[in-house]
Amino acid sequence: MLALLGALLLGYLLGSIPFGVIFTRMAGLGDIRKVGSGNIGATNVLRTGRKGLAAATLVGDALKGTAAVLLAYAWRPELAAIAGLGAFLGHLFPVWLRFKGGKGVATFIGILIGLKPLAALIFAAIWLGVAFTTRYSSLSALIASAASPLVLWFLGEPKMAGVAGVLAVLLWWKHSENIQRLLAGTEGRIGQKG
Ligand code: G3P
Repeated sequence: MLALLGALLLGYLLGSIPFGVIFTRMAGLGDIRKVGSGNIGATNVLRTGRKGLAAATLVGDALKGTAAVLLAYAWRPELAAIAGLGAFLGHLFPVWLRFKGGKGVATFIGILIGLKPLAALIFAAIWLGVAFTTRYSSLSALIASAASPLVLWFLGEPKMAGVAGVLAVLLWWKHSENIQRLLAGTEGRIGQKG
């Protein structure tokens, strides 16, 4: 029980590092939470017009999920998925931002990289396929995340599929405003300035 809480906490602390906020502040762009959708993720950082910063945010937010999983794996392999869940919760509810964090897409894929790289590749392929077709970042994430539990199940990883299911439900919940905008036809497309 103590080890489980330790893995959750380790993941949470790593996941709560808000790279989008840090990078945009370091670049002198002010508070990313006052730009576009107000989200701290790479899609919104891209709305500042700074592709490099958006890429750095994507990589940082993904790698913190990967790091949490791999660190836990080196310590107690059976707790790797729990550490991933902790990282996801840290990104969504970071104590440093009064628990108002991001929507979890990059961190989701980073966790999959650590847990099951093939599932991460399939997530990326689905995301890219939907994004190239529709230019909606949110829709791409919604579809890729919903597919992930099924993908992990078919890859013979039922426990990981369960954790991915929890992540997908949280991700969909954090995208509720995007879902409303998608349904209303008012969702911004990738790269569209906010
Ligand atoms: O990465 C989050 C993405 O799915 C939506 O972001 O800024 O358009 O709400 P945003």
